[in-house]
Amino acid sequence: MTVKSAFNLTSLKSLYDNKVLPVLIDKACALESISQQRERVVPKASGIVLEIGVGSGLNARFYDAQQVTQVIGVDPHLQPLAQERFAAVGIKLVSQPLSAETLPLEDNSVDSVVMTFTLCSIPDPSRALSEIKRILKPAGKLYYAEHGLAPKPKLVGKIQQMITPAWKPLAGGCHLDRDIEQLLIQAGFTVLGEQGFTQGISIVGYHYWGEATAGTVNTLVE
Ligand SMILES: C[S@@+](CC[C@H](N)C(=O)[O-])C[C@H]1O[C@@H](n2cnc3c(N)ncnc32)[C@H](O)[C@@H]1O
Repeated sequence: MTVKSAFNLTSLKSLYDNKVLPVLIDKACALESISQQRERVVPKASGIVLEIGVGSGLNARFYDAQQVTQVIGVDPHLQPLAQERFAAVGIKLVSQPLSAETLPLEDNSVDSVVMTFTLCSIPDPSRALSEIKRILKPAGKLYYAEHGLAPKPKLVGKIQQMITPAWKPLAGGCHLDRDIEQLLIQAGFTVLGEQGFTQGISIVGYHYWGEATAGTVNTLVE
């Protein structure tokens, strides 16, 4: 390959990543089946909310504006649309182009964390979850809706694992094969969640959703 063709490939990839992919992701993430998952978790967020991977702000219309004080939205690839979507529903969005693995927020400083269809794309999910755990107040909750590894049928999981290396560069770093619940548990969260195929069997159709707490779980002493 000549230097010129390598240069052309690099600029083509950058055009795809910066111009084409954000539009594709916004369209895919606005599908009805995905909106139904948002509806299950986002309205539960309250107080000061940290949204991880706020992207183009597709969650804005699902928040209960009456119980949210403000949303701090972080994402290394912030979309201008996010500000517009939050403004349209009257919720203050403070957004920063940051990665979830290292956040300049104080310990125990937010009431809720919202994370939808983002853990698949975070390069170091364990580090991001430990940051979330640090920042969340002890009584706070992480509300999540994600797609990930299908444990059954085994064939789907195997296909997800096989395809991920080729899929990742085309889909903004998205891994098809992450076991979201395991990652949460390994990070020390207590999980109250559900999982399953929500719209037929497909490589992106296995979803995990629910809430997770970082504080100590109280057990009843008899
Ligand atoms: C599929 S999009 C989902 C966007 C949005 N959460 C939604 O539900 O529509 C994945 C998002 O994760 C973001 N992302 C990737 N790496 C990240 C990181 N290290 N920290 C925070 N967000 C990240 C991407 O920039 C992108 O906006």
